[in-house]
Amino acid sequence: MLRWCVVWACLAGVARAFCPPGCNCDDNVPSARCVGVGLNVLPILFNPGLRRLNMAHNLISSLNDGLVFFDRLEELDLSNNALAYLGTENFVEQVRLQELRLAHNNLTTLTPGAFRGLNSLTLLDLSHNGLIDLQPGMLEDAPRLTVLLLAHNKLHVLVRHTFRGLRSLHVLDLCDNYFRDVPSSALGDLQSLKSLHMCRNRLTRLEPDAFTTPALTSLSLETNNIDHIEAGALQRLKNLQKLNLNDNLLREVPAAVLSLLLMLDTLILSKNNFTTIQAEAFRSLSRLTTLEISRCPRLASLHPNAFAHCISLQRLTISHNPLIRHLPERLFTSLPRLHTLDLRANSLKSVSEASMPWGSLARLDLRDNQLVCNCSIRWLAALLGAANTSLAAPDVQCAAPEKLKGLYLSRLSPSEQLCVDQVQVVVGIVVVTVSTVLLMALSVLLCKYRRRNQRDKMGRMWPPGPLAPWPPDDHTAPTRHIMADEYVYHTYSSVRKIPVTKV
Ligand SMILES: *[C@@H]1O[C@H](CO)[C@@H](O)[C@H](O)[C@H]1NC(C)=O
Ligand SMILES: *[C@@H]1O[C@H](CO)[C@@H](O)[C@H](O)[C@H]1NC(C)=O
Ligand SMILES: *[C@@H]1O[C@H](CO)[C@@H](O)[C@H](O)[C@H]1NC(C)=O
Ligand SMILES: *[C@@H]1O[C@H](CO)[C@@H](O)[C@H](O)[C@H]1NC(C)=O
Repeated sequence: MLRWCVVWACLAGVARAFCPPGCNCDDNVPSARCVGVGLNVLPILFNPGLRRLNMAHNLISSLNDGLVFFDRLEELDLSNNALAYLGTENFVEQVRLQELRLAHNNLTTLTPGAFRGLNSLTLLDLSHNGLIDLQPGMLEDAPRLTVLLLAHNKLHVLVRHTFRGLRSLHVLDLCDNYFRDVPSSALGDLQSLKSLHMCRNRLTRLEPDAFTTPALTSLSLETNNIDHIEAGALQRLKNLQKLNLNDNLLREVPAAVLSLLLMLDTLILSKNNFTTIQAEAFRSLSRLTTLEISRCPRLASLHPNAFAHCISLQRLTISHNPLIRHLPERLFTSLPRLHTLDLRANSLKSVSEASMPWGSLARLDLRDNQLVCNCSIRWLAALLGAANTSLAAPDVQCAAPEKLKGLYLSRLSPSEQLCVDQVQVVVGIVVVTVSTVLLMALSVLLCKYRRRNQRDKMGRMWPPGPLAPWPPDDHTAPTRHIMADEYVYHTYSSVRKIPVTKV
C-alpha cells in the first residue's frame, strides 16, 4: 500500500512531463493529442490539469471511469473510436467541458445519466453512430447545449420532451436519419432553435404547424421526398431567413406557404418536379435576395410575372433546366437590385437585350445554352468582346447555325458573321424583286412589239389580194369590221386564232 502511495506521489510529481507514447502533449495549455495511435483504453496518466484532449481515431471501446482525473477538461474528442455505449455518470467530473465529440462510434442507445455533470457543455457531436432513439429528458443534464449534432444515425421518431431543458439550443442537425415525419412535438421544447437541418430523410409532406420553433432562421429540408406542403406548415416561422427545399418532389412553388415568410432572404428550390413557375410565386417575399431554381428536369416555362414583388432580389440562379428554351421579356426587368444572373446550361436559343436589368446587373452567365448566333444577339457579342466593361460575363459558344457552331461569340464580328445572313437575305430580296420587275417590263415590251409587228403584217395584207376575193357585200362586211375591233383587245395568242385565212 505504501509502495503504491509512493509510486502515485512520484507519478503526480512527474505528471507535468508525462505523455504516453505516440501522443503530443503541450504543457502550456495544457493539452494532449493522441490521434490514430491504436490506443484501446483512455490513458489515465496525463497531466491532470489537461484542458484539451484529442483521442480521435483509436480503438477505445469503453470509458471505464477513465476521465475521473481530468476535471479541468474543456474539449474532449473521442470521435472515430469503437464506443458502443457511454454508460452512466462517466462525465460527472467534466463540469467545465464545453465540447464533446463522439462522432463515428458505435453508439445505438444512450442510457439516462450518460451526460450527467456536463453543465457547461455547449457542443455535443453524436453524428455517424447507430442511434435508434433518444429518451425524453436524456439531454437535460447539459442545459447549456447550443449545438447538437445527430446526423447519420437511425432516428425515425423523437417523442415529446426529448429535448426538454435545452433552452439554449441553436443548432440541431438531424440530417441523414430515417424521419418520415417532422418530429414536431419534440421540437416544441426548442424555443431558441435557430438552425434546423433535416436533409436526406424520408419526409414526404409537411403537415400544418410542422415546425413549432419560433426563433428558427434557417431550415434545411434538402433531399427528401416532399411533394406537398400544407398551407400552415411553416406559419410559425416568422423569423425564417433561409429555406432550402432542394431535391424534393414539389410540382409547383408553394406560393401560399411562402407568402407568410416575410423575413425570408434565401430560397433554394432546385431539383424539384416543377413544370412551370406561376405568376407571383414569390409574392410578399420583398426581402428575398437569393433565389435558386436549377436542375428541374421538367421545368419548361416561367410566367412573365413569376418574380413580381421580389424587389430585393440580388442573386438569381436559373440553370441546368434542359426544357427552358425561352424566357419572357419582362421576367427580370422588374428586379431593380439584381446583380448576379446565372442562366447557365438551359436550352435558351436567344436572349433579348431588353430583358436584362441593366441598371443593376454586374454578373451574367449564359454559358452552355443553345444560342443561335444571329443578329438578335449582336448586343451580347459586343458586350462579351468589350475590353472595358463593368459587367462580368464569361464568353459563350454558339450552338447554331452550323458554320458558327462551337465558336466563341465574343470573337465573331457582329456585322460580318452575325448579321451577314440578314444582309444576304435583304440583298437577295432586292435582287429577286428588281429582276422580276425587269422581266415583267421586258415581256410587256416584247408583247407590244410583237403585237405591233402583227398589226403591221395585217396592215400589209390589207386590203386582201386577189386570191381572197371580197365576199358578197350584204352580210360579211360588218363581220370583218368587228374582227378588226377584236384585234385591239385580244391577246397575242387569241390574235393567232383569228381565222385570217377564212377572211
Ligand atoms: C458495432 O457494433 C456491432 C454490434 O452491435 C458490431 O457487430 C460491430 O462490429 C461494431 N463496430 C465497431 C466498429 O466496433
Ligand atoms: C413529376 O410529376 C409528374 C406529374 O406532374 C409525375 O407523373 C411524375 O411521377 C413526377 N416525378 C416524380 C419523380 O415523382
Ligand atoms: C435569331 O435566332 C433566334 C432563335 O432561333 C430567332 O428567334 C430570331 O428571330 C433570330 N433573329 C434573326 C435576326 O434572325
Ligand atoms: C474604361 O472604364 C473606365 C471606367 O469604368 C473609364 O474611366 C475609362 O475611360 C474606360 N476606358 C476605355 C478605353 O473605354
